[in-house]
Amino acid sequence: MNRFEDKVVIVTGAGSGIGRACAQRIAQEGGTIHGLDVSADGLQDLAVELHEGGGNHSVSVCDVSSEDAVTAVVAECVSTHGRIDALVHMAGILRFDNTHELELTNWQKLMDVNVTGTFILCKAVLPHLIESRGNIVNAASTAALAGLPYGAAYSASKGAVKMFTRAIAIEYAKRGVRANCICPGDIKTNMTNDIPFPEDMDMTLLQRTMSLTGPTGPDVIASMVALVASNEGRHINGEEIRVDGGILA
Ligand SMILES: NC(=O)c1ccc[n+]([C@@H]2O[C@H](COP(=O)([O-])OP(=O)(O)OC[C@H]3O[C@@H](n4cnc5c(N)ncnc54)[C@H](O)[C@@H]3O)[C@@H](O)[C@H]2O)c1
Repeated sequence: MNRFEDKVVIVTGAGSGIGRACAQRIAQEGGTIHGLDVSADGLQDLAVELHEGGGNHSVSVCDVSSEDAVTAVVAECVSTHGRIDALVHMAGILRFDNTHELELTNWQKLMDVNVTGTFILCKAVLPHLIESRGNIVNAASTAALAGLPYGAAYSASKGAVKMFTRAIAIEYAKRGVRANCICPGDIKTNMTNDIPFPEDMDMTLLQRTMSLTGPTGPDVIASMVALVASNEGRHINGEEIRVDGGILA
């Protein structure tokens, strides 16, 4: 399949996990990737992989919660590649806390990256997507659809991403731009491997977030994102697509 031939796609969180799998998948299908992440090491690994597959890809270290940084990187993408056809916005952070112990600074950091970062990226790319009649895929979560214990801030942030995405889907539909979000559940990545838990956490409460068939790799999310972001997804708009092995069935 070459669904992204002649298409330029900005992928955030491209240095790891789901974002990286999306960048690889879209590049395999002929797309040109401009990958963003705060992790220079993650981007370096991705750049090597993309280079091996051929094509004129680029990467930039960028904190998605900084409007100045995002504005500069989006301008750089347009000046290097001439256009933007899709935004695959997967950068995000998660933490687990007893909510009564969650520090305001940690709540704020999560909102800055997950919610404000989504706004900043979408705002910056929308003028270019109007020109290309392109589309956006944001990262929500099963935590946007069902409460995540010890993850109240994360659930709140992903619920906001879901509703922000629905709102812009309607606002820009007549200008030819689609916006959707993906709701992954139980995907094995650095995010889910490395996360510290509160010491007194009741693990039975977290069972609702675990797939009955066990965790799986980020490629399952990448294949759905590729479908939605390609022309095959042209009638999917304002949707939150749950890819969770049946957790919330
Ligand atoms: N893994 C899961 O089971 C799961 C489930 C639901 C939702 N998600 C969502 O999917 C997305 C990808 O998660 P993942 O599992 O691949 O995690 P991950 O930690 O492997 O990847 C996230 C990437 O985002 C980058 N990032 C973090 N803060 C950033 C910032 N301020 N600016 C730019 N980049 C930043 C990180 O460096 C990392 O490379 C996230 O939005 C996450 O919330 C993941």
